[in-house]
Amino acid sequence: MPAEIISGTENARQIREELKEEIAELKEKYNLVPGLATILVGEDPASQVYVGQKEKTSQALGIYSARYDLPAETSEEELLNLIDKLNKDQKIHGILVQLPLPKHINETNVLYAIDPKKDVDGFHPVNVGKLMIGEPDFLPCTPHGIQQLLLRSGIKIDGAEVVVVGRSNIVGKPIANILLQKKEGANATVTICHTGTRDISFHTKRADIIIVAAGKPKALTADMVKEGVVVIDVGVNRIGKSESGKDILVGDVDFEAVKEKARAITPVPGGVGPMTITMLMLNTLKAAKLAAGLA
Ligand code: GUN
Repeated sequence: MPAEIISGTENARQIREELKEEIAELKEKYNLVPGLATILVGEDPASQVYVGQKEKTSQALGIYSARYDLPAETSEEELLNLIDKLNKDQKIHGILVQLPLPKHINETNVLYAIDPKKDVDGFHPVNVGKLMIGEPDFLPCTPHGIQQLLLRSGIKIDGAEVVVVGRSNIVGKPIANILLQKKEGANATVTICHTGTRDISFHTKRADIIIVAAGKPKALTADMVKEGVVVIDVGVNRIGKSESGKDILVGDVDFEAVKEKARAITPVPGGVGPMTITMLMLNTLKAAKLAAGLA
């Protein structure tokens, strides 16, 4: 049987509708408007697209959006000064610095500078630690979106064998952490594979759910999975341009072949991507509620 295609676009649309209603209610009852600041340093075209989508989605949901496009030569000190100003700005509840940053800026210094209460990416060590001990304020957006996709598609996570391919701080480590918590919507047995893993197939072949964030096209092929597996593809690889000049995107999974064996699979584009932005909106709403003592 062909796989169910798990639509991030459709799930994200539903969640955004729920968020829009809650944001309108917050304004009406408490005159509270969640505010998100996005900071982009330099002109990386992909990052420009992502930040543009974040700004557009904020506005569509009734979130106040402040966008800072800084030149590539911006010094670390200038960036830290802007973050300090936004940390103190009462209209701003969430601060997002788009990664990667130019090489002359130390990413760790920047992520440490964001007030953990405004860290809607969930990348500050305080929030990473809180997730680790099962007491998170903000779940990182891509992993949270993946968990929501699984839950809203009726896929059982409790007791499942989950294999994560990739150990980044943005996706691999936090999704493993989220799914292994002793909580509803989690409680899985999680294995993380990475470039040092001797035999990735050995692990993926016995997985009920595979989450691939390897950053490489066809990192997961059909011979690496069992029949009936659920596959979440986090990859975004630009492999060329179409005739009309648009980027051609593929994920990390050999989609056409793997979908013949899988029970359910996410496409690229239209899978995890729209969920990431939606979870950022959810975190911004949560940050505003926490700041107002409403959460
Ligand atoms: N670059 C790629 N993914 C992300 C993300 O989730 N947050 C930020 N800030 N930058 C990114």
